[in-house]
Amino acid sequence: MSKTTPDSIIKRKGTSKRIVALTAYDYPTARLLDEGGVDLLLVGDSLGMTILGHPDTTQVRMEDIIHHTKAVARGVANGLIAADLPIHSYDDAASAVLNAARLIEAGANAVKLEGGQSCHQQIKAITGEGLPLIGHIGMLPQHLHEEGGYRIKGKTAPEREFLLAEALAVESAGAFAVVLELVYPPVAKEITGLIKIPTVGIGSGQDCDGEIQVFHDLVGYFPWFKPKHVRPTADLAGEIGKAVAAYVERVRNEER
Ligand code: KIV
Repeated sequence: MSKTTPDSIIKRKGTSKRIVALTAYDYPTARLLDEGGVDLLLVGDSLGMTILGHPDTTQVRMEDIIHHTKAVARGVANGLIAADLPIHSYDDAASAVLNAARLIEAGANAVKLEGGQSCHQQIKAITGEGLPLIGHIGMLPQHLHEEGGYRIKGKTAPEREFLLAEALAVESAGAFAVVLELVYPPVAKEITGLIKIPTVGIGSGQDCDGEIQVFHDLVGYFPWFKPKHVRPTADLAGEIGKAVAAYVERVRNEER
């Protein structure tokens, strides 16, 4: 298998081979996902919840993403590694470029940031330096507090128009793909037809060029919060519960 690159991701646009993406935050998971054929591994700032136990992503810092990107990079041979620029790490174009370069230095092949029109300068600055970037529009977890929770975007006409403009802004600034999070599926389909770069959906229906999920949600490893759109393919929390119970039972009852 050859290494996935931004160019090979772009070439998947409109083909029947959808882009398969998952979050990864550590060496063994990254290695298993890579060996399983996942195209794109995202060191997402969702690690704030899934790994660090914060209530949302707003307390994640550059150091957290750098630390986990280094671990993921050690486990990946083929997949493309993208790392999230956390909140306030791209408030202006200069810090956006500096911090994107730090993530690439840590082993990421691309960076991702949240926002379209409001981040046009930052995206342009990063891609202008030759650093590959994935956009992220729709529900923006770093703005959870302003937005008042997780909800589907694009059901009303003004929201639809806003999302179309967001997608075009991300594309024209030089991103090579864009994540559509919780975008009303007919609008996600429209955006996918509108722009030339691939769309990677999460909770946005089946018409995007690919799909991304948070690994812990997919394998049932974070039972305290289950997004409605996830269809888990395993119950790791249940398996760990059984394994721990068996261990507790054995150690407590073993004869000395
Ligand atoms: O941080 C993350 O896991 C993400 C995905 C939800 C796309 O940004």
